[in-house]
Amino acid sequence: MNLYIETFGCQMNDRDSEIMVQLLEQAGYLLCQDIANADAIIVNTCSIRGKAEQKAYSLLGSLRRIKENHPTLIIAATGCVAQQEGKKMLSRMGHIDLVIGPQGIYDLPRLFADIRQSQSATSSASQVITPQDSQFHIPPFLPDLKHGNGHKRFVTIMQGCNNFCTYCIVPFARGREVSRSKEDIVAEASHLIDLGVKEITLLGQNVNSYGNDQDPEQRTTFAELLRAVAALPGLVRLRFTTSNPKDLSPALMDCFKDLPNLCHHFHLPLQSGSDTILSRMNRKYDRAGYLNLVKGLRQACPDLAITTDIIVGFPDESDDNFQDTMDLMEEVRYNAAFSFIYSNRPPARSCDFPDTISLEVKKQRLAIFQQRQKEISLERNQEYIGQIMELMVEGESKSGHGQWSGRAQYNQIVNFNSTTTYTPGDLVQVKITEGLQNSLRGELVES
Ligand code: 5AD
Ligand code: SF4
Repeated sequence: MNLYIETFGCQMNDRDSEIMVQLLEQAGYLLCQDIANADAIIVNTCSIRGKAEQKAYSLLGSLRRIKENHPTLIIAATGCVAQQEGKKMLSRMGHIDLVIGPQGIYDLPRLFADIRQSQSATSSASQVITPQDSQFHIPPFLPDLKHGNGHKRFVTIMQGCNNFCTYCIVPFARGREVSRSKEDIVAEASHLIDLGVKEITLLGQNVNSYGNDQDPEQRTTFAELLRAVAALPGLVRLRFTTSNPKDLSPALMDCFKDLPNLCHHFHLPLQSGSDTILSRMNRKYDRAGYLNLVKGLRQACPDLAITTDIIVGFPDESDDNFQDTMDLMEEVRYNAAFSFIYSNRPPARSCDFPDTISLEVKKQRLAIFQQRQKEISLERNQEYIGQIMELMVEGESKSGHGQWSGRAQYNQIVNFNSTTTYTPGDLVQVKITEGLQNSLRGELVES
C-alpha cells in the first residue's frame, strides 16, 4: 500500500505529517513521492490565510478524478481546514473518505483499516473526526528519522492558542492551549539526540505561555523547560518558535545570557507598529512595550538576530497607521520579516470590522514594506562581513562542485566551498565574505 502526503502550512503541520507517516508505516504503508501511485492520500491542510485554504481545497478537488479511476483509494483531509470545516468539507467533496482534526491523527491506522473493510462491504461511509477536547493530551510519540532531516527536528511542546487575536483563525482551528508535560518533551528530545539529532526547535503557537494550563503547583514555565532541554548532553543547538510579545518574560531573556547552545535568533511577531491597530487586533501590547522587549533582548544578547511577522491592510488601517509600522521597522531593523496582506478568516472577529481600504492600497503597502525590508536584510547581512561564524552544515548545494550550505545560529543560510565531504549536522568555521539579501557567503577557516 502506497501512501502519499501533501503538507501545507506551518511547522506544527509538518510535525503532524511526520507522526501520521510513521504511524501508517508501522501499519504497513510505504511512503511514495508520486501521487499517481498512491493507495491512500493525506492532504494536511492550513487555514491561516484564505490562499492557504484555497490551495488545500483545490488539491482535494483535483483528487476526484483520481478516485474515479481508483475507487479503493483512501483520501483523508487533516489539519486546520479539516478541523474547522468538518462535515461541510464532505458535503462539498463527497470523494473524501476521512476528515480529521489535529487531535484525531493518532487513530489513523485504525480508521484506514475501517475504511478498507467498509470498502469490501456494499456501501462505504465517510467519517468526520474533529473533537476539540480541552482535556486532550498530546500522546507521547517517539519519532523515527526515516524521512526528512537527520540532524535537526521539531518537538511540539503545546497545541492551540488562547489569545484570540481578532484576525486569527488558530484558536478556532487548533482549540485552546494544551501543554505537553515537561517529562514527555524531554524524553522526545533525548530520544532524538540519541538518534543523532544535533538541533531541536521547540514548537508551539505561543510558546511563551507554555505551562499556563498546567496545575499551578507543578507548573513548568517556558524558560524552565528551555533550560531543561538545553541541558541535555549532546544537544548542539536549541531554537524555539513562536512567541507572542505579550508573554515574553525576563526569565526567558535571561536564558540567552547563560544557555550556550541556545541560538541567537528570536522570532517576535509584531503584526503592526500602530497602537490603534494593535489594540483592534487584541494583541495586548503596544509599540512602546514591544520596543522595550527588543531593548531587553538586545541587552541580554547583543548579537541577537530578530525576525518578525507583519500584517498590512488590517481593516481600516490608515496611511498613518501603516507609517507607524514602517517607522517601527526602521527602529528595530529586523534581520528578516514575513509580511502578509490581511485576509478575512471567519469566524475571526475582524471579519465584522468595517474596512474601507482598497485591495490596491493594501498591495502597495505590502510592496513598500517588502522593498524596505529587503534593503534592511541586505544591510544586516553585510554587517556580518569579516566575522568568523560557526555553521551547522545542511548539505551540498544543488549546483554541487564542492559548494556547501550551512546555517548560522542567526538562521541565515551561508554558502561556502570545500573539498571535504560533510554530513548534515557537522560544524564548520567560516569567515563571512559576502552578505546577500537572503543568504551569506563565507570562506572556510582552518580550525
Ligand atoms: N491575515 C493575514 N495574515 C495573517 N496571519 C495570521 N492570520 C492572518 C490573517 N487573517 C499571519 C500573522 C501570523 C502569521 C503566522 O500569519 O502575521 O504571525
Ligand atoms: Fe493567532 Fe494570536 Fe494565537 Fe498567534 S497568538 S496563533 S496570531 S491568536
